[in-house]
Amino acid sequence: MATEMPRGTDVAPSDPAADVAAVFDLLNGLVAAQTLRALAALRIADHLADGALTAEEVAEREDSHPRATYRLMRAASSLGLLSYEGDHRFGLTGRGRLLRSGVPGSLRSLVLTQTGHSHWQSWALFPEAVRQGTTQTKKALGSDIFEYFAQPENADEAALFAQAMGDLSGLVAQGAVAALSTTGVSTVVDVGGANGDFVLALMEADPRLHGHVLDLPHAVDSARGAAEKRGLSGRFSALAGDFFTEVPSADLYLLKTILHDWDDTQCTQILRNCRSAVNEGGRALVVEMVIGEIGKPDFTTRADMTMLTMTNGQERDLDEFDALFAASGWRRSTTYPVGGGYFGMELVAV
Ligand SMILES: C[S@@+](CC[C@H](N)C(=O)[O-])C[C@H]1O[C@@H](n2cnc3c(N)ncnc32)[C@H](O)[C@@H]1O
Repeated sequence: MATEMPRGTDVAPSDPAADVAAVFDLLNGLVAAQTLRALAALRIADHLADGALTAEEVAEREDSHPRATYRLMRAASSLGLLSYEGDHRFGLTGRGRLLRSGVPGSLRSLVLTQTGHSHWQSWALFPEAVRQGTTQTKKALGSDIFEYFAQPENADEAALFAQAMGDLSGLVAQGAVAALSTTGVSTVVDVGGANGDFVLALMEADPRLHGHVLDLPHAVDSARGAAEKRGLSGRFSALAGDFFTEVPSADLYLLKTILHDWDDTQCTQILRNCRSAVNEGGRALVVEMVIGEIGKPDFTTRADMTMLTMTNGQERDLDEFDALFAASGWRRSTTYPVGGGYFGMELVAV
């Protein structure tokens, strides 16, 4: 009789000491995350950008407690975020450099968003989200996450979130722009486009294109500002609207990290609205992470936990995406990696 094989990744014999260390390591993920947060909040990477400093020098610039700043920087050096140069002097490693502000590829806003009030309060209710199968943001924050960002008192957090999305767009925009053909396209709508970084990158690559961002009213001003900064205002507009109600007509829709925010019914509604408004021969490009084989190391399954905590959305595998596309009048024609763990899925109307 054939022996039944164990499933999943836990096929090696267990080593109790290593198992304890591994669980401690996982648990300390929260310490690592808050160490990143403090480094970002105190702008330590910006202070070290021109060379190593002592913790006391950083504390003086930031008006923080010198001994606590030293302890933070010591912990950060043991996490590979700072280098230790001796005599209380610390420098930046490659990882630490990612926490600088205002530089291409910066992850500072993402760190501050994902470890900030809205996310941290919601994570406190995570087991309840699993019990009920739905985000607990209403209980944690008083509203869903996008309503929370729209409230004037949360404008700073909303701006950080938009910046974080823009920075992530920077990671994938280059790959997506290089892979995507804009032949036959003159109008592009970035659906839920936030700062517009994605459509603006596409417009820079193809000077014939007219681009639009459709987003909630609180988000569109920053998109206008971004277009102006890049000298693209003449070919750009930012429209305040609701993608569940209507999207403007276009030859190409960009939906980057939109579908993962919503459940299947809501995604189908967004995609149907694009399908009914798309011009003859038009297309859509969906950019998302894609869940791979179960039981293998897969960052996307962890991102999926964030979606469960913060939204009623989810990360999906290719079959799940195809089911959404089929239900809304689209067919996936090509799929390619665009960098940063994201995939571009091009859709044609059927
Ligand atoms: C996860 S962000 C993605 C932003 C952008 N596509 C990117 O990848 O950088 C989701 C965006 O959808 C917008 N959004 C949420 N609900 C919306 C709605 N009902 N209509 C239009 N935009 C909406 C949010 O304001 C936010 O900018």
